[in-house]
Amino acid sequence: MTSTTIDAGVLGTGFYVPERILTNFDLEKMVDTSDEWIVERTGIHERHISAKDVPASELAYQAAVRALADAHTKPEEVDLIICATLTGDAVCPSTASFIQDKLGAVNAAAFDLAAACSGFVYSSTVAAQFIKTGTYRRVLVIGVEVLSKFLDWEDRNTCVLFGDGAGAAVYGPVEKGFGILGFDLGSDGSGTGALGIASGDRGRALVEGQKQNCVYMNGAEVFKFAVRAMGATMKRSLERAGMEPKDVDWLVPHQANIRIIQSAAKRLALPLEKVIINIGKYGNVPAASIPMALAEAAGEGRFRKGDIVVLAGFGAGLTWASCIMRWAKEDL
Ligand code: UT7
Repeated sequence: MTSTTIDAGVLGTGFYVPERILTNFDLEKMVDTSDEWIVERTGIHERHISAKDVPASELAYQAAVRALADAHTKPEEVDLIICATLTGDAVCPSTASFIQDKLGAVNAAAFDLAAACSGFVYSSTVAAQFIKTGTYRRVLVIGVEVLSKFLDWEDRNTCVLFGDGAGAAVYGPVEKGFGILGFDLGSDGSGTGALGIASGDRGRALVEGQKQNCVYMNGAEVFKFAVRAMGATMKRSLERAGMEPKDVDWLVPHQANIRIIQSAAKRLALPLEKVIINIGKYGNVPAASIPMALAEAAGEGRFRKGDIVVLAGFGAGLTWASCIMRWAKEDL
């Protein structure tokens, strides 16, 4: 990154989960599974589930309001809203447009970004480009999911893994040398059949016998990919930021499986105390996992100004993404 551009970083964060909690014990009554299996294989104890009539944009709105307050930003000051989701309100218009309306962010452009669980990190790097060039000063990035509406609740391979929620961050100009210092984005489109939602022209027929509009997943294949991709993307991002694993203070990984998180930490030789882990309470909330973990940790005051924070994720596509930030927000 050149020093002639404006540095872009997080000014505020917020997250929101619906009230209803579904525990592993509840799931035991729905499919042939056990709390023991789920905890041992994934690290998940419970997840939050949205009410039937509450769409993604409502959860996103709640997270956005909290992030804007944290960033001392009024809705009308927002220049752009990017919503990362795979379970948006409609195929068209964008969920970002629904959020814009509800927020009253009348001066904001709005679009969705589809990169599955990597979506929040993809969106953060897009936000940073607009800020670095001086085009925009406030970009609201939201990751949101209502996966519960896209699950086959009879399929124990998938229904135990996911949850609903939203996380948001406001990006803006920060002091020189702070904010996003390096990133890595990627995709291997040969893996589209490994993970996704069976809808849309091609998606409907991608996996034989798959229930329509429901998540399909080859868990073992995604697991192998994830372990490889997480390590590799973080190394590339660190290199681009001119850093080494030992410089990292915090890792905020995608919360898909505790074993994937542990392997990612191991690859950076990071002790687990430096890894933000909340999968136990929320499960995998695809595009919302990283911003929810970021906002929860920030809200608990875990990051100090100047800390090196790494965001890293992977997901359907198959995609991967990571970025390195020097935390710019002053602890209040
Ligand atoms: O955001 C990205 C989305 N997805 C992921 O990141 C998923 C990545 N993959 C994973 O996290 C893991 O592969 C899983 C958690 C999905 C599965 O764990 P695993 O240790 O790889 O288990 P497995 O697929 O090897 O399955 C072991 C056994 C199978 O039984 P058999 O064939 O050995 O008799 C499954 O049928 O566990 C069975 N099984 C279950 N048993 C109880 C699968 N799901 C369940 C379940 N409860 N919910």
